[in-house]
Amino acid sequence: MREINNELEECNEKLNSQELGLIGKFVSNLFKTKNPDEMIEGAQKAGLQKTLGAFDLIILGVGAIIGSGIFTVVGIAATGSAESAGAGPALVVSMILASIACVFSAMCYSEFASMIPAAGSAYLYTYATMGEFLAWAVGWVLMLEYLVGYIAVVSAWSGYLIQFLKGFTFLPSFITNPPVWLVNDYTSAITILSKQGIDPQSVIPHIAGIPISLNLPGILITMLMAAILIKGIKESTTMAGIMVVIKLAVIALFVLTGAFYVKPENWTPFAPNGFEGVFMGAFIIFFAYIGFDAIATAAEETKNPQKNLPIGIIGSLATCTIVYVLVGLVLTGMVPISQIDAHAPIAHAMRLVGQDWVAGLISLGALTGLTSVLLVLLLAGTRILYAMSRDNFLPKILKTVHPKFKTPHVITILAAAICIAGSLFLNISTAAELCNFGTFTSFIIVCIAVIILRKTDPKRPRPFKVPFSPFFPILGVVCCGGLMIYSMQFLTTSRFLFPLWLLIGAIIYFTYSYKQQRKAEKDGK
Ligand code: ALA
Repeated sequence: MREINNELEECNEKLNSQELGLIGKFVSNLFKTKNPDEMIEGAQKAGLQKTLGAFDLIILGVGAIIGSGIFTVVGIAATGSAESAGAGPALVVSMILASIACVFSAMCYSEFASMIPAAGSAYLYTYATMGEFLAWAVGWVLMLEYLVGYIAVVSAWSGYLIQFLKGFTFLPSFITNPPVWLVNDYTSAITILSKQGIDPQSVIPHIAGIPISLNLPGILITMLMAAILIKGIKESTTMAGIMVVIKLAVIALFVLTGAFYVKPENWTPFAPNGFEGVFMGAFIIFFAYIGFDAIATAAEETKNPQKNLPIGIIGSLATCTIVYVLVGLVLTGMVPISQIDAHAPIAHAMRLVGQDWVAGLISLGALTGLTSVLLVLLLAGTRILYAMSRDNFLPKILKTVHPKFKTPHVITILAAAICIAGSLFLNISTAAELCNFGTFTSFIIVCIAVIILRKTDPKRPRPFKVPFSPFFPILGVVCCGGLMIYSMQFLTTSRFLFPLWLLIGAIIYFTYSYKQQRKAEKDGK
């Protein structure tokens, strides 16, 4: 009897240790990191020339940052939306708060970018420090930043297109004044028509009982963007420079002309919705700052990255903050808050004060600026997806490169299709909010990754080091996390969609990507 008992105990122990072994292996796989040296080696193979100085980086940064945030989302931050209170004239305070939240993360990006100068950004930094699962999670939330952010920008783009076309009175009215359901997603169409006192159901057509409302110009420009990316664009700082000059010129035109129409009484009450309005304004307008992380991807091509990278990243943030505060002051001073337009606030404000030609020029400049942001976002989204499929997280077919153009065409078509599908359902506020949630999450993870790598790999050369670490990275986590958590109490739609997105990501990882990784390891890939 005793013998049988002993045998049973032995068997149990064996089973337990086998089970533990399996669980242990599973957990260790989740945290399996990729060696930064491998990433650097891969980047060095590309052999890019180091030509960019601090000024070039600032131009690059401003080019990626200034877009629909200041041309459109600024209106939502000031006046509010169905789910969030507006900041009112205190918009400028919100802008400064959002820029502070960015500065700490910007420094963490600089440390990583100068240490691991390889394109791939937050996704790679996480892979190097926190392992496979979190790298996947960051790649997944970066889709929110780039592809859902794209949806917000494309919505602003068609808003400005319509403002621009309004100036051409000789054109047929279906072009100058298109039906609401042909240039808006369903929820925006309902809001606009209801505001005009029109019953939406009487105007929006239905096919087999399904309401038809779509942003047709947005769909067309997305197809064009995808075609350009498939054909391959050779991005040059000269082209980026021209775009930046146009954007800054129309903003300067707005500030200089608008300043003459500022009535200080429009600035009172300064914060009509108190702290809630200011913090929600900061959360929303954070969207306008997104893009500086794109500078980090140019690390491989930067001369003296130790000095130039932080100057480029922090310099472009500072430049944009100054530009935004000036626009915020003039916009809220020119027109009463209740009259600020949520679609094309800058051009609309000019129309309200009778400066139609300035409004036309602003719309044209905004269209040019927004087009460049569209291109950068779609490009960034496809490159992250490409990096993930190269790392076996996504089906192999996605990394197929076009035989003639040598660009990842399958992934580009897929990304464009996701943007088009999303634009049918998401209005600009929800898209910008989701984009912010995704970006905040990746910023938080990068801040934590800096602290981890300082501990696990202290000897690795760091051409740029975040000062006062770990306090500055922790402040980054607190600022980004704080704004995110604060806003979640009000934003019911995106508060539901964001965790849903994370859940879908986790399901794909555990049912597909995890297994593919193990298979690739077995095959020695
Ligand atoms: N910052 C970018 C924009 O405002 C996303 O369009």
